[in-house]
Amino acid sequence: MTPTIKGVILAGGLGTRLKPLTDITNKHLLPVYDRPMILHPIESMVKAGIKEIMLVTGGNNAGDFLRLLGDGRQYGIRRLQYTYQKGEGGIAEALGLAEDFAEGQRIMVYLGDNLISESLGPYVKTFKRQAQGGMILLKKVGNLSAYGVPKFKGSRIEKIIEKPSCPPSPYAVIGIYFYHPSVFKIIKTLKPSGRGELEITDVNNAYLRRKQMTYGIVQGHWADAGESIDSWFEANLMAQKQRKKS
Ligand code: DAU
Repeated sequence: MTPTIKGVILAGGLGTRLKPLTDITNKHLLPVYDRPMILHPIESMVKAGIKEIMLVTGGNNAGDFLRLLGDGRQYGIRRLQYTYQKGEGGIAEALGLAEDFAEGQRIMVYLGDNLISESLGPYVKTFKRQAQGGMILLKKVGNLSAYGVPKFKGSRIEKIIEKPSCPPSPYAVIGIYFYHPSVFKIIKTLKPSGRGELEITDVNNAYLRRKQMTYGIVQGHWADAGESIDSWFEANLMAQKQRKKS
């Protein structure tokens, strides 16, 4: 039987880097070109065949996601569940809230402020064949100190360094991750980082230590719309180009 992959979209956090835009709404409800930011990851997931999705949100505007998405059917989602993260304990903490939803299946995790131009279908197919562990996606970018950056030994990733001042390679780890259900056990072993968060990079490093992490290199465009006002602006331009092509 082909394994199922469920989707988890993370849309919690405070979005302080986009202030004052985020003073009155959740970052993921801000427009990116012609639609609210959150619809971009939803569209990518649904196009890749992932139609059972959990949305993790937080903060003061959580109810607005329900107003926008409802039961999700309008956007091609078959089953949409919501959960709420109290506070901003980090990406891995937010992911941990999806354990019951995952029901022991593999998951694709998508940071709600990430946009990608290429189809995720081939990565989904590859991960269905992967017997254990996780898979990350890398993209060559300029502004590396804002991201997780892999350090290579030959073609193998030795470890990932979060927001390095001295980037060990030209690649960013983008906010789209694939995991076996073992991820939830790993999350339970994490300790908060210096910024008080459970880091997704620590999850990925745990898999790297176990030699259970694979990676793909993204060729198309990628944007992290939450990194700064400028990156949000670039994400708008990227989405505009995409829309005009389709
Ligand atoms: O965009 C890719 C980068 O995303 C990776 O290269 C980094 O390794 C990874 O740590 C992450 O870095 P950011 O600094 O961009 O993460 P940020 O705090 O912006 O959170 C990304 C998304 O995760 C955000 O859109 C909402 C969600 N989130 C974040 C936090 C801190 C939550 O749902 N809950 C949280 O507590």
